[in-house]
Amino acid sequence: MSFEEHILDKRYIIVGGKGGVGKTTIASTIATHIAGRLDEDILLMSTDPAHSLSDSLDVKDKGKNFYSLEEFDNLYVLELDPSKEIKRIMEKFGQVESPLPYIDLMMGNMPGVDELFSFQIVLENILREEFSRMVIDTAPTGHTLRLLSLPEVMESWVGRMLKVHLTLSKWFASFKSLIGLGEDRAYDMVLNFLKEMRETVERAREKLTCERETTFIVVTIPEEMAIEETNRLLIALENYGIPVKYIVVNMIYRGFEGCPFCKARRKVHTKNLERIYKVFSDEYEIVEVPLMPYEVRGLKALSNIAGVLFGGGHMAN
Ligand SMILES: Nc1ncnc2c1ncn2[C@@H]1O[C@H](COP(=O)(O)OP(=O)(O)OP(=O)(O)O)[C@@H](O)[C@H]1O
Ligand SMILES: [Mg+2]
Repeated sequence: MSFEEHILDKRYIIVGGKGGVGKTTIASTIATHIAGRLDEDILLMSTDPAHSLSDSLDVKDKGKNFYSLEEFDNLYVLELDPSKEIKRIMEKFGQVESPLPYIDLMMGNMPGVDELFSFQIVLENILREEFSRMVIDTAPTGHTLRLLSLPEVMESWVGRMLKVHLTLSKWFASFKSLIGLGEDRAYDMVLNFLKEMRETVERAREKLTCERETTFIVVTIPEEMAIEETNRLLIALENYGIPVKYIVVNMIYRGFEGCPFCKARRKVHTKNLERIYKVFSDEYEIVEVPLMPYEVRGLKALSNIAGVLFGGGHMAN
């Protein structure tokens, strides 16, 4: 099965890897390419709160959260705005303000509580099934691994919450005067939020670990640090049961005759590319994308990347 056939075969295409290796570029390339090939509604979204998809697609009218691309009638883009989403989620829980201070107070400062909200939005969209395909651009590895470890995190948070109520009823009295809410109401609010999130997370996990529907495309570059991070990411994805078949090696130096700097870079890349094949090609398919001599931005540039990505992906030296 070619890379294109593999992509067209999946419903959820997640693109991840180290910071700056071209995740957003590859996700935008894949989404625009399949939108041109399929007569189906496609959602391109990012788990990264930075508005990078609109930069990559070179969308003029910045600042919108959700929009369709005028060049297509079936491609929609969703970018996160956590502050708006926090408000929406709070309204749903009948609160005007965020439960974050309460969660922090009740559970002790847990890392990544605010990330929870952006994760919640991503997972809700995965479950909503409004689109027949989703291409999901992710933030760099660490953030993505926290997203994937959510099922365990939620389980332990709900557990801790239940324990807190049993053991800290005295403490709740002072908590009550501190935040001016009835103790039970504050407790219920946080517990309901965590329980609902746990359910969302569990249902989303089922989809993201389903080999028939999902593929995680790992993007890397031929640099040692990136290769090492790729290795760690692949091990983690395997542990979480997320299906991975393809690694895209991006920004490979090729050509550039007569430039000593380029020649040296090319030598490094050739060596690292050989290492990538040696380490990963038994288990994974590898697709190569060269470093373009221009900024990859906008539909024209993305279609050039698509030409390489879906046109075989192996280049002559
Ligand atoms: N093959 C390529 N040739 C030349 N430039 C590229 C290529 N791929 C990506 N770029 C450029 O590299 C920069 C980083 O790419 P991109 O934003 O896609 O990376 P990212 O992995 O999403 O970064 P982040 O981790 O910050 O989200 C962008 O300016 C993009 O245009
Ligand atoms: Mg990005």
